[in-house]
Amino acid sequence: MAETGHDKAEREAVLSVRGLTVGFGDKLVLDNLDLDVYRGEVLGFIGPSGAGKSVLMRTVLRLLQRRSGTIRILGADYDSVSDAERAALDTRLGVLFQHGALFSALTVKENIQLPMREYLKLPQSLMDELAYLKIQMVGLNPDAGDKYPSELSGGMIKRAGLARALALDPDLVFLDEPTSGLDPIGAAEFDDLIARLRDTLGLTVYMVTHDLDSLFSVCDRIAVLGQKRVLVEGPLTDMLECDDDWVKSYFRGKRARAIPKQEQARNLHRD
Ligand SMILES: Nc1ncnc2c1ncn2[C@@H]1O[C@H](COP(=O)(O)OP(=O)(O)O)[C@@H](O)[C@H]1O
Ligand SMILES: [Mg+2]
Repeated sequence: MAETGHDKAEREAVLSVRGLTVGFGDKLVLDNLDLDVYRGEVLGFIGPSGAGKSVLMRTVLRLLQRRSGTIRILGADYDSVSDAERAALDTRLGVLFQHGALFSALTVKENIQLPMREYLKLPQSLMDELAYLKIQMVGLNPDAGDKYPSELSGGMIKRAGLARALALDPDLVFLDEPTSGLDPIGAAEFDDLIARLRDTLGLTVYMVTHDLDSLFSVCDRIAVLGQKRVLVEGPLTDMLECDDDWVKSYFRGKRARAIPKQEQARNLHRD
């Protein structure tokens, strides 16, 4: 169903991007892009490989410079806040990057405590308690806390990365392809975890993904990056009605296959 202006007005945008342009040298990656993410939703962000999904996420996080455009995040314009306010805003954001989720020389617990050390002044005993709380929250066994990333499976590493993203109890979490490399069951479990965090913590999730199962099972809305901007954003039904060729082939071509696969994974997981 198409969204009306009225619906949009009632929802609080925790991220609003307007007129964003980003490029490298002669090459424009994003051109006059607009995007909104609303509080309490899981937004699935998709688009062809190399379209600029990671570039957009890194630009929003101020890791890359933009040529023009405004970014409002959690009600504030990053450009006009003081350094102290900016640091406070940063503590309300959690990030799980596409590559290099954890530091290999640190244990899971130490990885989770990195943001705490950077932003909070807490005694070690309290940081330990908090780290184990996050470890439990993402469904890892407490003994994972003392393990190094090399001792963990792919799915456990993703969960540990998520635990670190949740270290400071963020309002908004950015996940770049969190289920890539996981088998369908591991990916379905990760999706369930994301849905649970949204429902219990009221977390807002911005999730770049290639995983059609995630889009069907956990994402409340989807945004498609193409031609250097957001081509379409809305619930799944909007995607199925969209006339863009890439969107059509992406959803209509794979839809029949994706639904049974998703149900299969979930049934296996629940048995
Ligand atoms: N630091 C950089 N310098 C130059 N080009 C870059 C840089 N980061 C990304 N790009 C280019 O921007 C485009 C979008 O990349 P990316 O956002 O990683 O795509 P994806 O949608 O697959 O995440 C690619 O052509 C990539 O080569
Ligand atoms: Mg990417």
